[in-house]
Amino acid sequence: MSNHRPDRLRRSLALRNLFRETNLRQDDLILPLFFKEGKGSLPIASMPGIKKMGQAELLREIEKAQKLGIKAILLFGSTLDKDSLGSKSYDEKSLFHQAIRQIKKSSGIILIADVCLCAYTNHGHCGILTRKNEPAIDNEKTLEALAKVAVSYASAGVDIVAPSAMCDGQVHSIRQELDKNYFSDTAIMSYAVKYASSFYGPFRDIYDSRPLSGDRRSYQMDPGNKREALREAMLDAKEGADIIMVKPALAYLDIISVVRGAVNLPVAAYNVSGEYAMVKAAALKGWLDERAAAMEMLGAMKRAGADIIITYWAKEAAQWLSLRG
Ligand code: PBG
Repeated sequence: MSNHRPDRLRRSLALRNLFRETNLRQDDLILPLFFKEGKGSLPIASMPGIKKMGQAELLREIEKAQKLGIKAILLFGSTLDKDSLGSKSYDEKSLFHQAIRQIKKSSGIILIADVCLCAYTNHGHCGILTRKNEPAIDNEKTLEALAKVAVSYASAGVDIVAPSAMCDGQVHSIRQELDKNYFSDTAIMSYAVKYASSFYGPFRDIYDSRPLSGDRRSYQMDPGNKREALREAMLDAKEGADIIMVKPALAYLDIISVVRGAVNLPVAAYNVSGEYAMVKAAALKGWLDERAAAMEMLGAMKRAGADIIITYWAKEAAQWLSLRG
C-alpha cells in the first residue's frame, strides 16, 4: 500500500489555508467602470449589476468601491458625438476628460483609462479606416490618433493608459508622444495579447460599438495562436509597455501561463464581459453558485500567472475576500 496521502493536508480549513499555493488578494483587483455623457446611469441588460454612469454617479461609485478596498479602476470613455475619425476621443474639453480631472481631484484611486477609438467612431472599428465602408485600418493615422488620446488622458491626470486597439506599434508611438509632452511618469498597460473573441459580446452593447461592417479579426488575434501571443508580448515589452495584458482570461489560461514565463513585466488578465455574463445568467437561473464560481475563476487566473485581474466582480470579490473564513 502506498503511504502517499495528500489528503492529510486537507483535513481542516486552517490546514487548507496554510498550504494554499496561490491566493487572490484585494490589491490584485481592478474594477472596470463605464462613463457616459449626461446625467444619471443606465443599466446594461447583458451585465446585471453593471451600469454606465454620468460624472456624479461615477464619483459615488468610486467612493463605494474604495470603501470596499478597491485601489484601481479601468475607466472607459464615450461620446454621443461619434464621427469617422473618433475625434472626440482626444478633445480635452470633452465631458469624459472633465470627469477624469474630477476623479483625480476627489479621490486617490489609481486611474487607468482605456485608449481606443471604437466608442468614438461611427463605424465602430478601433481605428481610422483607409477608405469609407471598407473595414481596413489605416495604421499610421490610427497610431497618431491613439497617441493623441493617450496624451490628452495623461494631461487630464490618469496614472496609466491602456491601449486596446491592437494597432501594431501603438505602445511605441504612445510612449514617444507621452515622453515628448513631459508625461514620462504615465505608465502603459498594453492590451498586448488580445484575441478576436466572442466573449466581448456584452461589452459592445454598452456603447453600441459593434463594427457596422466587417469584424475585428484583421487586427485582433486568432484564438488558435499561442506562439504569436509571445511575439505580441515581447514586441510590446520592447516598445516600452509597463504591464502586459492577456484578454480574454478564462478561455486563455494557457496563454496567461506562457506569457508569465516569457516576460518579466507584471501580467494582467482581463476577465471580460462575456465571462461575467455567462456566470450571472446561470446564477440567476439557480444553476450555479455565483460567488463560488466567480472566485474559482479569478483564482484560476491568478494560478495561471496573472499578477493583477480586471474584473466586473471586483467589488464583490473584495467583499468575499474580507469575509473569507
Ligand atoms: C475596446 C475594448 C473592448 C473590450 C475592452 N476594450 C471591446 C473589443 O475589443 O471589442 C472588451 C471588454 C469586455 O468584453 O469586457 N477595443
